[in-house]
Amino acid sequence: MSGDITRSQEWAALGKHHEELAGRHLRELFAEDPGRAERMTLTAGDLFLDYAKHRATGETIDLLVALAERAGLRERIDAMFSGEHINVSEDRAVLHTALRLPPGADLTVDGQDVAGDVHAVLDKMSAFAERVRSQQWRGATGQPIATVVNIGIGGSDLGPAMAYEALRDYADAGIEARFVSNIDPADITGTLAGLDPATTLVVVSSKTFTTLETLTNAKVARQWLVGALGEEAVAKHFVAVSTNAAKVAEFGIDTDNMFGFWDWVGGRYSYDGAIGLSLMIAIGPERFREMLAGFHAIDEHFRTAPLDANMPVLMGLLGVWYTDFFDAETHAVLPYSQRLHRFPAYLQQLTMESNGKSVRADGEPVTTDTGEIFWGEPGTNGQHAFYQLLHQGTRLVPADFIGFAEPYEDREGMHDLLSANLFAQSSALAFGKTAGEIAAEGTPAHIAPHKVMPGNRPSSTILAPKLTPSTLGQLVALYEHIVFVEGTIWGIDSFDQWGVELGKKMALDLAPALTGEQPPSDLPDPSTATLVRRYRELRGR
Ligand code: F6P
Repeated sequence: MSGDITRSQEWAALGKHHEELAGRHLRELFAEDPGRAERMTLTAGDLFLDYAKHRATGETIDLLVALAERAGLRERIDAMFSGEHINVSEDRAVLHTALRLPPGADLTVDGQDVAGDVHAVLDKMSAFAERVRSQQWRGATGQPIATVVNIGIGGSDLGPAMAYEALRDYADAGIEARFVSNIDPADITGTLAGLDPATTLVVVSSKTFTTLETLTNAKVARQWLVGALGEEAVAKHFVAVSTNAAKVAEFGIDTDNMFGFWDWVGGRYSYDGAIGLSLMIAIGPERFREMLAGFHAIDEHFRTAPLDANMPVLMGLLGVWYTDFFDAETHAVLPYSQRLHRFPAYLQQLTMESNGKSVRADGEPVTTDTGEIFWGEPGTNGQHAFYQLLHQGTRLVPADFIGFAEPYEDREGMHDLLSANLFAQSSALAFGKTAGEIAAEGTPAHIAPHKVMPGNRPSSTILAPKLTPSTLGQLVALYEHIVFVEGTIWGIDSFDQWGVELGKKMALDLAPALTGEQPPSDLPDPSTATLVRRYRELRGR
């Protein structure tokens, strides 16, 4: 629907239902409906979802699905997959799902053979990755590549960095990947430390090839290389990933060594395309394609499953349920996998850059909260840090637990202990411990209130057989589509990011006043002027 979804009958029905359900405890919901534990589960690809521990009943799901229908979710899904320009503020198609179309698929959009172009780039990446991995591609001194350094930021960093960490057990060619993103000089200094320029390949990744952080870091890396090996070494040690061939050439990278993508891939949706080059070099094209097949399996599930048996749809609708009806402020993501330690950070860009919007696609202000705030840490570390607040704090924080049945490699039964912690935490959050149970343990009355675990804290648990390239692709696609579902309900454009532009421009305008090239006048506001003057004093300028 276009317009204000919060004025729909379906929204009102959910509001009424919330009043009836808000005072009910998960303990009661389970007692009344013993079948819910079995019934409120769903399988998509290799992902098994337990959503029984949500403050929701069958009626809630029906009402949420009715809301999705009212929002035109089915039509929006079809519009995205077919390449309609659903990114209205930039007048672009949104086709990250095309990046994982299987070979032989057919998709032409706006006169472009999208499927053909995607596979041409994948083939070019695969051929290059194989040359590097098989040591045919050698550096300027004839030595093979030992380290790939990806320079990028935002979507040009978080995706490949997260996925490399997740899949490092599959990095089988002895090639390490490192990632530089921050314009803080400590980042590139730390990343290049100990590397030999003669065995290092730099992948400069930037959709626009205009991003200050990336171009500055790339220049520093170039000086580092040229200082050691001379100007002519650049061709053997620098490649680029971008949509902007002209800027790549201007930087001095041969466009033969450029891997392209297109404006219909958003930065935060791009690591399964050329932005994943560093990952592909590390794990190999075959594993990379397994990851793409995982993405595609969830794309197909999302595209074809009925809304009430559709994993991203249910999870997205539950996100809306907590955000807008329970006023939940944040959403914790808790992977019980050390390898997924960058997953929450990756999701922060995916979800918050996409849905952190306060006007709808039609330009009118939204009338309800949008944009879930995602955060988290791997279990069990988080348990010893912030779970206290999850269990006994005053805020409602819905959580996603993510676990795997099989470790890549076990030691001393550690993996079962890790998984036991996952199941214990979601159970304790949901069911808690009553004052009666505490008293029955003989706890003194004045201590008992401190030990009461209120429970009724909702969570999803996603369980997969093992963290593999395929299951990682499935997980990422799941969250991409959750973001889409939420954005559709809220009626916002999830694919632009105008909010980050102003600060970037202001930083460029401010820089000369900091360096001393310009006097500290004409600053944007008095508070900033005070800070700039203090900064200059501290730097003796
Ligand atoms: O932070 C804004 C942003 O445009 C992100 O959307 C993007 O992923 C990042 O900057 C990097 O952009 P680019 O790939 O063009 O360097």
